[in-house]
Amino acid sequence: MIYDPAEHPFSETHKLMIGSIVPRPIALVSTTSNNGINNLAPFSYFNGVCSRPPTIMFAPARRSWDGKEKDTLINIRDTKEFSINIVSEDIGEKMVKCSTDYEKEIDEYSESGLSPLPSKKIKPPIVSESKISLECILNQIVQIGKDDAGSGFIVIGTIILFHIDDEVYDNGRIILDKLQPLGRVAGNGYVRSTNAFDIIRTIKPDV
Ligand SMILES: Cc1cc2nc3c(=O)[nH]c(=O)nc-3n(C[C@H](O)[C@H](O)[C@H](O)COP(=O)(O)O)c2cc1C
Repeated sequence: MIYDPAEHPFSETHKLMIGSIVPRPIALVSTTSNNGINNLAPFSYFNGVCSRPPTIMFAPARRSWDGKEKDTLINIRDTKEFSINIVSEDIGEKMVKCSTDYEKEIDEYSESGLSPLPSKKIKPPIVSESKISLECILNQIVQIGKDDAGSGFIVIGTIILFHIDDEVYDNGRIILDKLQPLGRVAGNGYVRSTNAFDIIRTIKPDV
């Protein structure tokens, strides 16, 4: 079939995107508001960008029902700091609890049972249960679309400190089977990362 997004509501397009762009890594993003209230929310439109400087991006959309900006975006715009916490299988349920649309005054650490651990270089805490956490400062926020529901933002951040659990680290590499990161697919679906295999790549062709 052929699908032209110009002929459909954004909600239908959204379903095709979250079913096609799979599996997605999950960033559990920790921020602190100007009033000092911590916020924690998962984002699976998340990826790395480059390593010099080490840069990540994630995309908080506007709320689908009223077009309002998410607290994570507001806090990062205000404070320019956030931590990204990698989601392993063992904290999947708690991560999902952080995705409920609580009022701005609610601290999702308390709601989810996850524990904040002080960061070293930024004010927002890291998630103590995460095996990898990245302290980040804001590079830039790019607005995509207009001000209506369905539109969104790209938050680009520079990693200024890595926290890596010794258990998942070996001689400069991350051990996938120990990290056990969750991947997001459509709806309420998740996949495990326990089935990895190699496909050998030639980087430069023989001349
Ligand atoms: C696994 C998972 C991934 C999500 N990914 C995104 C995403 O990429 N972009 C987005 O806008 N919302 C995403 N959400 C929904 C947000 O987590 C949710 O809107 C949350 O309430 C935002 O919180 P905040 O207002 O405190 O920032 C995701 C939810 C889950 C459970």
